[in-house]
Amino acid sequence: MTPLDYDRKHIWHPYASLSNPPRVRLAERGEGVEIVLSDGRRLIDGVSSWWCVAHGHNHPAIVEAMRRQSEKLCHVMFGGFTHDPAVELAERIAAFAPKGLDKVFFADSGSISVEVAVKMALQYQQAKGRPSRCKMVSLKGGYHGDTACAMALSDPDGMHVLFRGMMPTHYFVSKPEGGLPALAEWSRELENLVEEREGEIAGIICEPVFQAANAMNFYPPEYLLEMRRVCDEHDLVLVFDEIAAGLWRTGVRWAHERAGISPDVMCIGKALTGGHITLAATVASEGVADAISSGDVGAFMHGPTYMANPLACAAANASLDLFSRSDYGAMARRIESEFKDSISSLGSLPNVRDVRIKGAVGIVEVERLPSREDIDRVIDETGVWLRPFSNYIYAMPPLVSDSNVIRRIANAMSEMAKLPPGPETSGDFHE
Ligand SMILES: Cc1ncc(COP(=O)(O)O)c(C=O)c1O
Repeated sequence: MTPLDYDRKHIWHPYASLSNPPRVRLAERGEGVEIVLSDGRRLIDGVSSWWCVAHGHNHPAIVEAMRRQSEKLCHVMFGGFTHDPAVELAERIAAFAPKGLDKVFFADSGSISVEVAVKMALQYQQAKGRPSRCKMVSLKGGYHGDTACAMALSDPDGMHVLFRGMMPTHYFVSKPEGGLPALAEWSRELENLVEEREGEIAGIICEPVFQAANAMNFYPPEYLLEMRRVCDEHDLVLVFDEIAAGLWRTGVRWAHERAGISPDVMCIGKALTGGHITLAATVASEGVADAISSGDVGAFMHGPTYMANPLACAAANASLDLFSRSDYGAMARRIESEFKDSISSLGSLPNVRDVRIKGAVGIVEVERLPSREDIDRVIDETGVWLRPFSNYIYAMPPLVSDSNVIRRIANAMSEMAKLPPGPETSGDFHE
């Protein structure tokens, strides 16, 4: 049995069936912006392997940092021990994070960092003597991960609807769409909800400026100012999930920087290790950390087995070092202008509803996705890996992609956007 045959019969892939699995390709190596397949063909990774491979695959500096660390200590429990890579990373994250956020909890994935952020909000309220405040306010159109709490905060009518029965319930405000003209009404909705439910609400969580995996929606930073104001007025914890948008993906270090305010808690992941190994972090303000620590319990109650894994911390240190050495904002903004030149015109195609571009994110929203077979054919013919989902043909390439790479990605997007719409169900695979 070939590896692909075995895989087809025994291994689940994300959001996939085992009896009718989607096609997968056998990846052998990563080289810069490319994935090399076992038959030698190369694909440009137009989605940075789900938005994390910011510096390119197998970056020598990150690989070397992990190799050196592997010779000393691959893992040690974080209960009772610490180690240099974790301490260095906490310092680096604090230096990168918005002012005032320098208390770091290391988590093993983005979803877990969201769970941790919510627990922080709840423990904060408990410590302040308000134990009934155990719900979050979230935004429709959002996505925060696939674990129970993260699902419960994601769009209530989205991909997790199947699990509604087991999920905790939270409160939702409308998707932030309609730009600045819609802000006043949206803000009233938020304010009314918080006033009505004040005794139940611990905090507000959102993906700042860019709602990624659910709605692929950009919204003005002014919405963040309203969330900040409401949180300040009601002593709620403001959580910004920067897992997708952070680390220059939208053209600035943190998407929320555009609003000129800071959250109380921030989640980071994905590009933290440059896509080399899983690691995320939840970073809290002194105010949140102090309140939790001086509450009845005192301890913050979370502690995964692989917390602050030294190999992952070493990778993240090397990744943040790369981020600090070059102007990644300029790279993302150059990609933005190249996407504007190359894919904006796709808006006039019959199957296209809208084209949206910000930083190193290019989105073509279609009436209906082409068939899987047609999408696969374009991937094979253009040598560009894209993974359209729902109604979106999109690219989030490695930030180090040069102009030629962006041209090839734009060409593949354009070929896909020109295809006829596929059957009703073809867009039914996520992220
Ligand atoms: C904004 C946001 N939050 C959380 C997550 C979950 O991260 P992970 O897949 O690492 O659990 C994602 C993943 O796409 C995300 O985009």
